[in-house]
Amino acid sequence: MSIFSANTDSARMPQHIAIIMDGNGRWAKKRGLPRNAGHAVGSETFRKIATYCKNIGVQYLTVYAFSTENWKRSKEEVEGIMKLFDQYLREAIEEMEADHIRLKVLGDLSRISPELRQLIEKTYEISTHYDGFQVNVCINYGGRDEIVRAARAFAEKCLAGEAKPEELTEESFSHYLYSDGIPDPELIIRPSGELRTSNFLPWQSAYSEYYFTDVLWPDFDEAELDKAIAAFRARDRRFGGVKK
Ligand code: FPP
Repeated sequence: MSIFSANTDSARMPQHIAIIMDGNGRWAKKRGLPRNAGHAVGSETFRKIATYCKNIGVQYLTVYAFSTENWKRSKEEVEGIMKLFDQYLREAIEEMEADHIRLKVLGDLSRISPELRQLIEKTYEISTHYDGFQVNVCINYGGRDEIVRAARAFAEKCLAGEAKPEELTEESFSHYLYSDGIPDPELIIRPSGELRTSNFLPWQSAYSEYYFTDVLWPDFDEAELDKAIAAFRARDRRFGGVKK
């Protein structure tokens, strides 16, 4: 049972939570298991946390599932993670219709298999029918890469005579990002004891609150999320202004 409810004090409930799902490999190593066993349990944690976020009234959950750098891992590990995405997307397609959930994949999909891309397309199509809780899964995502792509897209519009450099604002630039239409995350959580942001949402996190914990992602649970939200609620967010 949550210490929060969807209807109480919703002004202090983060509308958008983002999570770097870190620590799967160490979790597996501690148990003498292959790394992919850690990812499999991590993927269950992700499902559990997504359901919980939906139930407590969070509107958007964004997770860092595979970075542009993660291709450096062994073929076996990469294939294992891609298989987990495949399984999740197939399940999500069933559940989205029942629960009116939206799903978006953020990242460069050109390196993703055609089968996965097809599943992703299907989730986009279903998402257009709903406006409820939205899950964003970052796959082959790199924050700097996202910004460079956006800059290129804008430059191309300028060259085509469809835009002018002086028209560019922070607001209009954000429409060129993968996250177009998604509000910035108020709370970003990184488990596993690492105190880095690792190229995760550099543009969108300009005013985000961070929460770090030593708990490894496969061990992360609803109580840990409650702690992160409680810490967020206790913070004084001034966005560069002064306290009234
Ligand atoms: C980082 O931990 C985790 C990843 C690179 C993979 C994340 C993937 C999942 C949680 C499973 C599938 C996800 C979905 C959305 C179905 P790490 O491997 O770097 O851990 P370590 O730092 O302990 O080695």
